[in-house]
Amino acid sequence: MFAARQSFGLLQKRAFSVSARQASKVTVLGAAGGIGQPLSLLMKLNPRVTTLALYDIRGGPGVAADLSHINTNSTVTGYDPTPSGLKEALEGAEVVLIPAGVPRKPGMTRDDLFNTNASIVRDLAKAAAEASPNANILVISNPVNSTVPIVAEVFKSKNVYNPKRLFGVTTLDVVRASRFISQVKKTDPANEEVPVVGGHSGVTIVPLLSQSNHADIEGEARDALVNRIQFGGDEVVKAKDGAGSATLSMAFAGARFAESLLKAAQGVKGVIEPTFVDSPLYKDQGVDFFASRVELGPNGVEKILPVGQVSAYEEKLLEAALGDLKKNIAKGVEFVKANP
Ligand code: NAI
Repeated sequence: MFAARQSFGLLQKRAFSVSARQASKVTVLGAAGGIGQPLSLLMKLNPRVTTLALYDIRGGPGVAADLSHINTNSTVTGYDPTPSGLKEALEGAEVVLIPAGVPRKPGMTRDDLFNTNASIVRDLAKAAAEASPNANILVISNPVNSTVPIVAEVFKSKNVYNPKRLFGVTTLDVVRASRFISQVKKTDPANEEVPVVGGHSGVTIVPLLSQSNHADIEGEARDALVNRIQFGGDEVVKAKDGAGSATLSMAFAGARFAESLLKAAQGVKGVIEPTFVDSPLYKDQGVDFFASRVELGPNGVEKILPVGQVSAYEEKLLEAALGDLKKNIAKGVEFVKANP
């Protein structure tokens, strides 16, 4: 018994020294919001996270005090927009999650959020470029198709841009696709994987059903399913009736992506997530950012996987997506040029 206890103690020490070497600070910007709060909760529950920094223009310290009572090992600190608050929240971060900004109301597209969210994301990116230039930046704030290029432009202007460490979080589209197809096929969503490529709004969301377990879905059933995946966010906006957009499912999706990144950073191989990144796939058509399956690793993006074989129907969807994406990306780039 004693020996057993001793060896357990040793194991615990080893486990501690492993986690100490792999200390991971995660920062959430916009932590007191609808997404920020449950996302921060899920990060508090993640054993890979050692330090959790929560920043918001209002309410960061309150959310942090609340979460800090949860008996997991990480320390939680909240920050207000004092002169040094944002900088301290960012310093030493390995992962920076950005759900700051306004959400949609019924009748709005994600692009309608541009005017408000572009400057919020630009200013947070400026702070991150200075305080945590080597962090993985995970952009949730919409319109993702434009806010990711905004972060890239800001980092470029400060000479710290690393395309391998900038991600638009499109995981919710993948989560929805797997759930919705399981509802149609009456299967367990855990066994359903549908690659979703393109971007994160309307027709730029391109689910590749031909690469799922159910390539046989055709005709009206296929059209309805694709439409539901592309416009699934609208269901939530409508149901919340003016009180915002997806927050809980988004927090789940954001936490899944952050976990994948942390896992890959800690040496787990073969971690693949679809995400919107600076991508070579359609650069020859003038589209500099594109979501596809990406293998993650200690340096962020390890490998951008090709879209693969698609059906004639999906080829058409892709064409429509590329047209919109090009405009959305240019809008972000031009915004930073005009409003540095
Ligand atoms: P929310 O309004 O509930 O929360 C936003 C939070 O950001 C608030 O606490 C606010 O104080 C904070 N904030 C505003 N300006 C800030 C700044 N300069 N610095 C730090 N914090 C700031 O909104 P919600 O529902 O959490 O949505 C946030 C964003 O996420 C929206 O832009 C929404 O469109 C987007 N979203 C993205 C999804 C995706 O799949 N990528 C899915 C769902 C929403």
